[in-house]
Amino acid sequence: MIPIPKTFSCCKLAQLHPQSTRSGPSKTIVAKHLLELIKFDPHSSRVHLSNPTLRIGQRYKRIRQKLALVLLTLRSATVKALPASLQQSTPSASPITAATMSVPARATLAKRAHLLRGKTAIITGATTGIGRAICIDYLRHGAHVVVNHLDLPADRHHFDSLVSIAKEIKSGDPEAGTLDHLPGDVRDPATGAALAKMAIDKWGHLDICVSNAGICTFADFLELSQDLFEKTVRTNLDGAFFIVQAAARQMAKQDPPGGSIIGISSISALVGGAGQTHYTPTKAGILSLMQSTACALGKYGIRCNALLPGTIRTQLNDKDLSGEKGKYMEGRVPLGRIGEIEDMAGPAVFLGCEELSGYVTGAQLLVDGGLFVNLQ
Ligand SMILES: NC(=O)c1ccc[n+]([C@@H]2O[C@H](COP(=O)([O-])OP(=O)(O)OC[C@H]3O[C@@H](n4cnc5c(N)ncnc54)[C@H](O)[C@@H]3O)[C@@H](O)[C@H]2O)c1
Repeated sequence: MIPIPKTFSCCKLAQLHPQSTRSGPSKTIVAKHLLELIKFDPHSSRVHLSNPTLRIGQRYKRIRQKLALVLLTLRSATVKALPASLQQSTPSASPITAATMSVPARATLAKRAHLLRGKTAIITGATTGIGRAICIDYLRHGAHVVVNHLDLPADRHHFDSLVSIAKEIKSGDPEAGTLDHLPGDVRDPATGAALAKMAIDKWGHLDICVSNAGICTFADFLELSQDLFEKTVRTNLDGAFFIVQAAARQMAKQDPPGGSIIGISSISALVGGAGQTHYTPTKAGILSLMQSTACALGKYGIRCNALLPGTIRTQLNDKDLSGEKGKYMEGRVPLGRIGEIEDMAGPAVFLGCEELSGYVTGAQLLVDGGLFVNLQ
């Protein structure tokens, strides 16, 4: 381990993270703290905290969170300042875009950055699809996650594989988060309260809530049964309401209060769908719920935002996207492909990370490869 080269003046370091003054200590103080804390290991090309046993008071916690954000920039800048012989251990930087970034590359990025280090999250319906991808990235970024699931026998293999992936992540990175789970139906108001309680009992605070569970059965409007309509509304809208309310109650009363609530809405909140007349209103409802809760909860420092997936290949639509429809949808997407579940994880990390999205609330983030704007 060698100290950071002198070329890193306090000022330069602070420039790497220009938000360091936001409601916190001055840039110089933050930079000094960072300099004290960071050590660079040229052999592993990794940056370490010099004192991992630091007591994490609120002040240090903020600084450590900021630190996570500058690690990547700092690492590449530091490597450039080293002699050429030492730089060889650094993997060559090829241009990586979000669309082409492989799962291993994402895992490496998360491991280096740990953008959600020490946070606690609850995610509903998270053994499959979008919720599962968010859960895995949250764990990699250092968040402890309690997932809700229906505990269906048919989903057992999804659950088991999620548990083993979580173990693998943790064994490869001691700073990764820990996975817990609690079966429950989001239509039952007690489910949200139980989830929040489990997070509190284990970790003492709740920082992120992702309301993800949902169903979507395509059906002709004129044939649609009252049963299907009610099941869809109860699951998607009532379920989201109860989960969000339970999370907000906890986030408002904890010390210090605050958190990030993410409602998984849909592009369907903004556009119609002939076979989705029972579904699109629920997704518009979730968007509206995030807007109103953002107003109601801002005073507690709780941010509420909606993620609007476009067409993401999951068990919800796999059948619908097979064959011609899949090709047609691909042609409609400016980025030229149907979304993958991992495409949703980065935006969820962004909204969960207050250092990145601390002034974002009541917002809607479309993650659709450009589908929505591609009308002409
Ligand atoms: N896949 C897409 O293209 C797409 C597009 C827009 C929005 N969405 C939304 O994304 C969310 C996740 O869907 P997905 O595509 O990953 O499909 P998915 O079926 O893999 O995920 C939904 C999860 O919710 C769970 N669930 C269903 N009812 C539940 C209940 N009553 N209580 C608890 N859990 C329940 C399911 O078991 C499943 O694990 C949904 O809210 C969906 O509306 C998906």
